[in-house]
Amino acid sequence: MCGIAGYIGYRDAYPIIIKGLQRLEYRGYDSAGILLYNNDVIISKTKGKVSDLEELMNSGVSKEGNIGFGHTRWATHGIPNDINSHPHTSNSGNLVIIHNGIIENYDSIKKELIKRGYTFQSDTDTEVLVNLIEEVKKENKCKLGKAVQIALNQVIGAYAIAVFDKTKPNELVVARLGSPIAIGIGKENKEFFIASDASPFLEYTKNAIYLEDEEMAIIRENKDIEIRKINDDSIITPEIQQLKMNLEQIEKGGYDHFMLKEIYEQPHAITDTYRGRLNANSGIIRMSGVDDNIDKFLNADRIIIVACGTSWHAGLVAEYLFEDLARVPVEVEYASEFRYRNPIINPNDVIITISQSGETADTLAAIKLAKEKGAFVFGICNVVGSSIAREAHAGAYTHAGPEIGVASTKAFTTQITLLTLIALKLGKAKGNLSTAKYHNYLQEMEQIPKKVAALLTPETDAIVKYIASVYKDASNCLYLGRGYNFPVALEGALKLKEISYIHAEGYPAAEMKHGPIALIDENMPVFVIATKKGHYEKIVSNIQEIKARSGKIIAIVTEGDTEVKKIADHVIEIPETEEALTPLLTTIPLQLLSYHIAVMLNKNVDQPRNLAKAVTVE
Ligand code: G6P
Repeated sequence: MCGIAGYIGYRDAYPIIIKGLQRLEYRGYDSAGILLYNNDVIISKTKGKVSDLEELMNSGVSKEGNIGFGHTRWATHGIPNDINSHPHTSNSGNLVIIHNGIIENYDSIKKELIKRGYTFQSDTDTEVLVNLIEEVKKENKCKLGKAVQIALNQVIGAYAIAVFDKTKPNELVVARLGSPIAIGIGKENKEFFIASDASPFLEYTKNAIYLEDEEMAIIRENKDIEIRKINDDSIITPEIQQLKMNLEQIEKGGYDHFMLKEIYEQPHAITDTYRGRLNANSGIIRMSGVDDNIDKFLNADRIIIVACGTSWHAGLVAEYLFEDLARVPVEVEYASEFRYRNPIINPNDVIITISQSGETADTLAAIKLAKEKGAFVFGICNVVGSSIAREAHAGAYTHAGPEIGVASTKAFTTQITLLTLIALKLGKAKGNLSTAKYHNYLQEMEQIPKKVAALLTPETDAIVKYIASVYKDASNCLYLGRGYNFPVALEGALKLKEISYIHAEGYPAAEMKHGPIALIDENMPVFVIATKKGHYEKIVSNIQEIKARSGKIIAIVTEGDTEVKKIADHVIEIPETEEALTPLLTTIPLQLLSYHIAVMLNKNVDQPRNLAKAVTVE
């Protein structure tokens, strides 16, 4: 979490950094701060968002300088207030730092530094780190780069940092372990950009270096970047990558919120996920990451899916897909539980990790653990070049395009699309799917973007908006689904919680009888996924049980449904498709519903309180 953006070159650094921080705000928005250097250090920081920092800067603070960096924070150590905001300065006032991550042994280092006369203004681990660097620099009489390196070898934790030394104001030192750092390279090394992802510098350069874990870089204007390994000082020749992302993709494009834009992008995003992979006419699914390792997949004793949040819900859908279509046993794990449970992992297990950002700390740690135990790890990520994409043995990108709204939408449906392709491919290869069935799935898959688009019409939106207006003041909501749509119920509830702060629970419909039914009365809206294919009669009985207790029923049904319509208070129709593909459709109205409720309640849709998009701390 936390976003870092910096610049060194010939342009004004301020507008580049501020705009960069705005683009990185999805990483945290508890506080924001900036350092600029123009003959002297200028530091401004404040609790709140980047817009609050801008306001502060507009109150007469100098914005001059061709070097500087900024930070948008998701608080770990210390409450979000002005003092705990980054940047932090060392006791001498010479060194300034911004930091994304956690220094776990900061307390013992702090005690030692206090013994040596250091004082601290904030409660942060970051202020400890900058003073440790200062102490090391003093003791070893070395330059900033060396001091950063020695200090980092003494800390335990995760970090992406940028450090500036007032006594050498033409360089920036950056380093990473566990949290990302991209370096944008301007023409002829005349300018450089640093950022947590490439979005802050897309309009200036398409050439970027992504630091690997345990690497640091010394960046000086008009010079080559010097990259070293933090632990053994070896010099690294960086790989310069050509960025494919463009500016349009990271702007709102006329929508009120990124979340809405991303919901509406789903027909395209799903097509982009299967483009070049699925050819329904020839009956081929081509995915090099799977093709190159097909024996591992076919001989797997089981598939263990590891993920967090919405990605974990996509994993749950995949459990149904893999077991149903490919007949492989599947376990789905929360990465945070998996990594600390001493899990049984065998060399014949295939681990599939799912992550939009590719940076989630627990998922990343789970991959490392699985690799240590000899398992093959396949990573499904959206962000190209992300840590998880690089750490996995093989993988596939969802190609959903940048997802900026904190509540995940198109990442979910594209992850499911990709997982469906893998399940179909394995099902076919293992002989579990007849040729006719397989071809039918492929044809149906190709129809999904059209069917998603059919749910994103003004008519459906009006229905969903009306339902949102009726239930926006509910204190609790229940979401029910069975089979493939049980994970969709969980995801629907999560979306509502995340952005409207209404308590919501997702449940397997039949489990309702074992507890949640006690909550049902005339004030409880119950969202039920009741599509034709998939335990329809059973779900109808569940709906009757809710009705008998005066609960309000909002049902997602297949077009043309008559039975549920008779008993539900409201229905939303979705086009017919194969049961295994229904999650790709049933999810859409639930995303829209949460969106409209949050807007009606005047909540910050794209930046819900306390959340962050990329959780790079465990
Ligand atoms: C955070 C985000 C969620 C996301 C989860 C996992 O909690 O707010 O939207 O589902 O992290 O993130 P990942 O990038 O690994 O999919």
